[in-house]
Amino acid sequence: MKVKIHTLFQYLLETTDAEPEAIVGFSLSGSPVLGDYLDAIDPSLSLDWNNRDFKGLPELRAHVLQQAGLKNQCKIEDVLITGGAAEANFLAIMQLLQPGDEIVIETPGWPQAEVLAKAIGAKIKKIERLESEGWHLPLDRLRDAVTSQTRMIFVTNPNNPTGDLLSADEVQELVSMASSAGAWLLIDEVYAGLEWDGPRAPSVAGIYDRGITTGSVSKALGLQGLRTGWMICQDPDAIMNAVILRENSSEIMNVMGEIIAEIALRPERYLPAMEKARSEGMANLAEMNAWIDSQPGLTWVAPRAGLIGLARLPNGMDSDVFARKLLADPYRTFLLPGSAYDQPNHIRLGVGGGAAVNLRKGLDRVSVALRESVSESG
Ligand SMILES: Cc1ncc(COP(=O)(O)O)c(C=O)c1O
Repeated sequence: MKVKIHTLFQYLLETTDAEPEAIVGFSLSGSPVLGDYLDAIDPSLSLDWNNRDFKGLPELRAHVLQQAGLKNQCKIEDVLITGGAAEANFLAIMQLLQPGDEIVIETPGWPQAEVLAKAIGAKIKKIERLESEGWHLPLDRLRDAVTSQTRMIFVTNPNNPTGDLLSADEVQELVSMASSAGAWLLIDEVYAGLEWDGPRAPSVAGIYDRGITTGSVSKALGLQGLRTGWMICQDPDAIMNAVILRENSSEIMNVMGEIIAEIALRPERYLPAMEKARSEGMANLAEMNAWIDSQPGLTWVAPRAGLIGLARLPNGMDSDVFARKLLADPYRTFLLPGSAYDQPNHIRLGVGGGAAVNLRKGLDRVSVALRESVSESG
């Protein structure tokens, strides 16, 4: 098994040194600073591990259930604290999927499941989200793809990169499909809490014994540097298998990540932080919608949740060429080309990152670069 690089990460690696002056399409809220938490941190805290539990600090795991609305459905033992949602997905997929098993995934989607399934030697069935259908997950096509060989269904809700959203009924339908095949249903909820067009659907870990919910403090709270996330599942073996794999990679959680995430998820901090993230996100998306409307030939399906979406470039323009042009002088602006998501004529736009990313400046430069590219191609 060797994990191979995906085009999305390849692009990030190739562009790390570019020192852009603006970033357009950031997926997380503006990040708090360490000083925001110092009043609640005991300076005599040992920097050993948490010394309490291999699955993570119990108080943090209780907050995780609370914010997911799972307090009455799941127990603290059903929660494993991980190095971000990325590690949670990694542990679940690597331990539950075997060579030859079928996994059903979505495209466009977060590439991690595909990368890992390829490394495992699993059989991948991709369900295409179509722009003409608002990028909505086509449950009828997904149902056709599920067979008795299906071992796992992996989807993101809200979806990265389109911002599409599943309803409670749709999550329930996914559960019945997975259950009829005896398959695991992993729903990555890393963007949860930022729903604009509809309520947050119930987390699958609360309604299906083979349901796995993954998430983290990275996105709505902007705390991605803490590398703190979770895997929630009512199946004790699935959690234990993840603990066993983690013991052979990062062993334990980093204690500062756990401590700060626990503070950030305390209701008296979490609720106002989410309110701020939501009001800023909504206002910035309204600006983005107006900006897109003013760009000749540029269109998008506005995200129904989260801070990012895919926009179609004018005149069938190539996203790689455009993204690299934009990154170079005189524009010095970073965005992700849609090629990273099998959508070569789209770009990922978004409003995250707070003041640090100079979004307004970036959009002005995208406007100029678009006009120039259109006139060159015409
Ligand atoms: C859908 C999805 N899952 C997981 C991750 C990884 O997040 P984390 O920082 O929690 O590991 C990302 C990051 O962009 C994501 O978009």
